[in-house]
Amino acid sequence: MKIARFSRIGFILAAAGSAVGLGNIWKFPYITGEYGGGAFVLVYLITVALIGFSLMIAEMLIGYKGRKDTVTSFETLAPRHKNLWKYAGFQSLAGLLIMTFYSVVIGWIFNYIVTSLTHLPSSVKEAEVTFGAMLHSDFATQLFYHTLAFVIVSYIVSRGIKSGIEKLNDYLMPALILILTGMFLYALTLDSFGKAFAFMFAPDWSKLNSEAFVAAVGHAFFTLSLGMGAIMTYAASMEKGSNIVSSALWVVFLDTTIALVAGLMLFTFLYQYGSGPDKGPGLVFISMPAAFYEMGTLGNFFAVIFFSALAFAGLTSAVSLVEPTVQYLIDRFGLTRTKAAWVSGFFFYVVGILVILSNIEMTKEYFTWDGKNLFDWIDFLTAAVMLPLGGLVMSIFVGYILPKNEVEATLRPFMKGYFNIWYFSLRYIAPFALFIVILNLLGVV
Ligand code: PFF
Repeated sequence: MKIARFSRIGFILAAAGSAVGLGNIWKFPYITGEYGGGAFVLVYLITVALIGFSLMIAEMLIGYKGRKDTVTSFETLAPRHKNLWKYAGFQSLAGLLIMTFYSVVIGWIFNYIVTSLTHLPSSVKEAEVTFGAMLHSDFATQLFYHTLAFVIVSYIVSRGIKSGIEKLNDYLMPALILILTGMFLYALTLDSFGKAFAFMFAPDWSKLNSEAFVAAVGHAFFTLSLGMGAIMTYAASMEKGSNIVSSALWVVFLDTTIALVAGLMLFTFLYQYGSGPDKGPGLVFISMPAAFYEMGTLGNFFAVIFFSALAFAGLTSAVSLVEPTVQYLIDRFGLTRTKAAWVSGFFFYVVGILVILSNIEMTKEYFTWDGKNLFDWIDFLTAAVMLPLGGLVMSIFVGYILPKNEVEATLRPFMKGYFNIWYFSLRYIAPFALFIVILNLLGVV
């Protein structure tokens, strides 16, 4: 059987499609708003440059050399203790867990595309009520759109790397970039652009506490799709001889640029038409629709294309969240791709329903522990615990366990003298920073 592989540009688009997601357009702007702007953005950018880029190369390297699902890749590459190292591969289950709420949020976005066609809330207050009503009492609508997201994602993954995932990204990524560029150019013409720029880039150090620091590091991981095998699984289908380093650079560059462009655009709109930047997770679902309303008829058009761009970003990431488990089921249990895709889909679909219920007024008490509902627990467990842990394990594996000469033989041709800097950062800087993040989580520092 011929094994389907990404084309060179197909791989970059798919990996960038994985990285550019709800994290860039929904999460990044609102956490930047919550943590006060500039200083937070700076820590995030430094983390991306110093740690994110190094780990992106490391994760691609494991997949590229391993050529299989994450469990098998760790197992075959480990020079000894194979049985132990294979457990590192189970980091890929985090993707399926993330998918349980990611699919629900994509569902909200679908709903907003449809309703924005005809109606926008005339004030932030009304927008708040609309969003709250959907979240807390409209089970049927959320279920309907969550089901739609589940069917689309599972179908695309079932079509495989080449005719499913690569094709999806070939269409949606350029469309996403086009829409964001158009909206950004429009934002450039508005008076408030300067204010938005100052908010994002003028650091106010007094706002930077340890919580903001950890959030910035955690987000750098989440947004780059690192630490849970998505990039690794895609890299297993790279063409032999591909340039890992330039691919990693492209993915990091696209992800970061799109986050900054989306943030600047959103904050400009919010300063110009809306309520400012500090609205929390409701930012794109509450403040933005109200801001679009202020733009008149053009607002409906902008709202529809904005939520479409958000849906595109979400879908291209969603397939990468499911693919590691699918590949695992295929490689280890011999399932057909179709079966593997629908079995994995079924898991996130069912747990996703519980996630919806954990927000619904009538049922939420059954899904809330310690003040956090199921949605928040899964978000916390994956983004704050599993991803940094996955990153730590990966940096140790490539930095200390894989024989240096093997790593060097693969990467040196693409890196030349920079190899030593990368290796140093992977061995010392990345594990140290991740270790601090994990200690902080445990409440030790
Ligand atoms: N990077 C995606 C985002 O920013 O929304 C989320 C994500 C996708 C995280 C895939 C992890 C992953 F493996």
